[in-house]
Amino acid sequence: MAQLWGGRFTKETDKLVYDFNASISFDKRLIKQDIEGSIAHATMLAKQEIITTEEKDEIVKGLQEIYNEVTAGTLEITSEYEDVHSFVEANLIQKIQDTGKKLHTGRSRNDQVALDMRLYVRDQITKTDKALYELLQTILHTMEENLDTYMPGFTHLQKAQPITLAHHYGAYFEMFKRDRQRLGDIYERMNYCPLGAGALAGTTYPLDREYTAELLNFYGPTLNSIDSVSDRDYLIEFLSALSLVMMHLSRFSEEVIIWNSNEYSFVEIDDAYSTGSSIMPQKKNPDIAELVRGKTGRVYGALMSLLTTMKGIPLAYNKDMQEDKEMAFDAMDTAFNCITLFTGMLATMKFKKENMANSATKGFTNATDAADYLVNHGMPFRDAHSVIGRLVLECIDKEKAIEELSLTELQEICPMFEEDIYEAIALKTCVEKRLTIGAPGRAAMEKVIKIHREYLRRNEK
Ligand code: ARG
Repeated sequence: MAQLWGGRFTKETDKLVYDFNASISFDKRLIKQDIEGSIAHATMLAKQEIITTEEKDEIVKGLQEIYNEVTAGTLEITSEYEDVHSFVEANLIQKIQDTGKKLHTGRSRNDQVALDMRLYVRDQITKTDKALYELLQTILHTMEENLDTYMPGFTHLQKAQPITLAHHYGAYFEMFKRDRQRLGDIYERMNYCPLGAGALAGTTYPLDREYTAELLNFYGPTLNSIDSVSDRDYLIEFLSALSLVMMHLSRFSEEVIIWNSNEYSFVEIDDAYSTGSSIMPQKKNPDIAELVRGKTGRVYGALMSLLTTMKGIPLAYNKDMQEDKEMAFDAMDTAFNCITLFTGMLATMKFKKENMANSATKGFTNATDAADYLVNHGMPFRDAHSVIGRLVLECIDKEKAIEELSLTELQEICPMFEEDIYEAIALKTCVEKRLTIGAPGRAAMEKVIKIHREYLRRNEK
């Protein structure tokens, strides 16, 4: 048991207490950030003449060696240390003796861990954003290829009006684009450096916090030392943004699962992205989509967990805050893996376009257009709605689609119908006439796709 703080204690920590208190098993993933932060801190201490340049060089060299040894696997981060900070400091002291003991001058583990976590989250935001960018590319590509791929649009999971695959995917493009924007907003708000806040009240050493912030690529230092060590808002915001990403992925997954069902048969998931059954040889299951849908709960869980942990903590640092890591790390890994796998599944998924178009022609998806036809011939919409309602009832009775009725049959219900009704309610017309911005008509979609292309070109990362 290697502790940094044994001085005022006369007794060893109970073994169970030590294990309960320790965070090394999970905060070891902050090793890179911890060392980066320590190098910046030592560099600043030397610039301010709090340590000498020679001491700084020795410290930096020692820290770099530790990092290289850990990544090479020759130095193991073991449970002998309480946390990653103690591990690094103890190993530094072992390497360069008394000089190593100067690293922690003007620093507390409270501002140190606040920094490490911010650096980590900052990288994760960038990494998640890149994955979302790839997902958007895949979605847009499918949109460009499927401007004329007709399918039913649904409300209440009942066929509503015909749309195109490009249009349907376009809805997800909007969602994941907003997700990226949210990540960007969070980055802007959180990119300030807490190092130098000390335990909570700053320090008496003449630290140059602007300089440390600059070395670590922050916009500047945080402005209140108490808040610096107590704030986990940015992490909650990130978990919230990830929860929304997962919600979007989960809804999309649900649709892929429905489309993949025998009854719908709209899509064929690539063999590389599906699995079989151990007993039923005919099965090809949409496991990736199901797992993405299922894993959404874990990410929501991490968000709820941290919100709850933080809600009753008085200022400033309290050990409760160590609980900000395990579930958050899991949520970040989960969301990233889900985005990546989902993208791969989408990129290789094939569409059964004939089935989709057939499905769009059934279920009276052109009923609104039939009503609009009567409106265009002078009937008020509410009356037209009622006429077409009766017409649909008749069709159900005869087991026919509207366009399968003869003109005489149609005219029996309403004499306003002419030969051009068939053209007016054809699948192609129903889609192509919808030309307001945001609607599925080809010309409208082409405009939107152009905007999306430009957005991706300007916002690559
Ligand atoms: N392992 C701790 C955490 O993750 C580091 C900070 C410890 N600070 C303290 N005052 N005990 O929060």
